[in-house]
Amino acid sequence: MGKLEGKVAIVTGASKGIGSGIARVFAQQGAKVVLAARGEHVLKYAEELRSDGYDAIGVRCDVSDYDSCKALAQAALDAYGRIDVLDCNAGICVLGDFLTKDDSWRDSHIDVNIKGVWNACKAVIPSIIAAGGGAIVITSSVTGDMVADPGEAAYATTKAALVGLTKALAREFADKNIRVNCICPGYIRTPLVEGMARQSDPDNPERAIQAIASAVPLGRLGTPEECGELCAFLASDEASYLTGTQMVIDGGSTLPETTSMGQ
Ligand SMILES: NC(=O)c1ccc[n+]([C@@H]2O[C@H](COP(=O)([O-])OP(=O)(O)OC[C@H]3O[C@@H](n4cnc5c(N)ncnc54)[C@H](O)[C@@H]3O)[C@@H](O)[C@H]2O)c1
Repeated sequence: MGKLEGKVAIVTGASKGIGSGIARVFAQQGAKVVLAARGEHVLKYAEELRSDGYDAIGVRCDVSDYDSCKALAQAALDAYGRIDVLDCNAGICVLGDFLTKDDSWRDSHIDVNIKGVWNACKAVIPSIIAAGGGAIVITSSVTGDMVADPGEAAYATTKAALVGLTKALAREFADKNIRVNCICPGYIRTPLVEGMARQSDPDNPERAIQAIASAVPLGRLGTPEECGELCAFLASDEASYLTGTQMVIDGGSTLPETTSMGQ
């Protein structure tokens, strides 16, 4: 029996990348999964999961819009009658120069990465309370709270904020039997990271990916499914005494004190 058997789970940003891996692992673990993302592709991906024998629906939703999140919660209730798990994974990352970038660059990250999680939680928590409790998992990052590279000011600001939001919600809803934890991925091979690789080495993005891999102690980037396994654990009753935590999943990339010593 899967560790999420009988649970209804919403996953945002589920059309590709880490969210698609989370949605697939949740489905494999027995959850009924509501996949949410902005574009049409999320509907196709939900269909793909159904054709693989899983219970899933797709909903188009822009997490930066509260009404869209409320409609997402309603769609989940209409389809499955309850919500036990919310996985807030949708996010954006665009690198930029702090001094020259327009402030709309900062605001777009705040709108999706912070307000998007805020909106989804606000829209869905009443249903989790009505179900008698459940779990929320938030995708933060090692970037912001632990590390940062040039160009990541907007992204790092928002991802660090999610650690604070995780702890605040964990505290506020503990007495409603809702556990709230976040995952902090290092480099996971997704369209987002492939886009960053194209930005940093337009002539040979694969070279940029390999450079990242060689700096990771485990020697490779992570996969969306590996993040999905961690999220499934945090969402499941196996993690029943875990709340307010941040789980680093980075192949050891934040371990080296410097990149040059000990070589
Ligand atoms: N890939 C990594 O190495 C990495 C590392 C740390 C954290 N993260 C975080 O993991 C999450 C997923 O990243 P990814 O690499 O899979 O990215 P991705 O670009 O491959 O996928 C992002 C997903 O979020 C959705 N999305 C974006 N804006 C949205 C909005 N306004 N409303 C609804 N959905 C929206 C997209 O449709 C897509 O499904 C993000 O929060 C990202 O910050 C990624």
